[in-house]
Amino acid sequence: MTAVERIEELRAEVLSAVALAGSTSDLESVRVKYLGRSAELTEIKKSIRDLSPEDRKSVGGASNKATKEIEAALQERLESIAATEREERLRVEAVDVTLPGTPYPKGSLHPSLRVIDEVVDFFVGLGYRVAEGPEVETDYYNFTALNIPPGHPARGMQDTFFLDEGLVLRTHTSPVQIRTMLSQEPPVYVVCPGRTYRRDSDPTHTPMFNQIEGLAVDKGLTLGHLKGTLAAMARHVFGEDVKVRLRPSYFQFVEPGVELDVSCFVCGGSDPNCKVCRGAGWIEMLGAGMVDPAVLTEVGYDPEEYTGFAFGMGPDRMAMVKYGIPDLRLFFEGDLRFLRQF
Ligand code: DAH
Repeated sequence: MTAVERIEELRAEVLSAVALAGSTSDLESVRVKYLGRSAELTEIKKSIRDLSPEDRKSVGGASNKATKEIEAALQERLESIAATEREERLRVEAVDVTLPGTPYPKGSLHPSLRVIDEVVDFFVGLGYRVAEGPEVETDYYNFTALNIPPGHPARGMQDTFFLDEGLVLRTHTSPVQIRTMLSQEPPVYVVCPGRTYRRDSDPTHTPMFNQIEGLAVDKGLTLGHLKGTLAAMARHVFGEDVKVRLRPSYFQFVEPGVELDVSCFVCGGSDPNCKVCRGAGWIEMLGAGMVDPAVLTEVGYDPEEYTGFAFGMGPDRMAMVKYGIPDLRLFFEGDLRFLRQF
């Protein structure tokens, strides 16, 4: 067989191998096998210089032509395989956007936090600012500045956790009132949510619990403003139909002091066996009053010029009533079965 015939044979062989190649890597093997460094065609080309002039011409021409054709065939096949492979990849990787998504476990808000949010949102809507204070508080802010001097029997009623000299875990959020007034001039409109602590534990008391304090100091504020504000808050949290009433009470830092009751939002007073109000028709909600002039004086406000009202409520208690939860201790045990219900 002459070299030219062999070239012709190789050319035909390659072209059918190219046609049979099913992937880009198959094609690459074909290319290496027939055009690579040790391929037969390459060898033939290398030997051309040893041929006679006329053979050189015919073998050279045939091998160049064959090489070009093979390269062209490889290239053409490569493009068509690449296109097919791309199609296939797109098909396999296609995302079916109509399939249902993976369900994502959703958390929920703790019942206390729900009430805190509702109350705080309500007051923010009225233009109140949110203020916070430390949970480790000094005796001065927790008691003395609130008109509860050292040795006063009112201190004994707070079941205080005492820390080192002069420090306590705050027994209420009322000290934030003092910190706020000392840090700014009137008018003051703040709500102060936060954790508070008392040595107490039974179905309706836990050593740690939440409170929300509120304070308004301005020119001309009256008990009427206090009642109107808290009535609107009660409607926001418990429903449009609830009514409120004030009962006289006593807190060292207000004068007069009151307690606010909310009409039973479950039975409205009509059910003597009601689980929520136990037939009373009213639910005790919070303590409040007009800021005692002694407290205003203590923080450098002039009680002749300014008056104020303050209130303190227990959002955990409010959540117990609102959601019908019988035991406060459930709130702080972190039992997911309990928390999942909200
Ligand atoms: N600090 C009181 C407590 O923890 C609650 C309270 C009562 C706050 C009357 C007030 C208030 O601001 O005016 O029992």
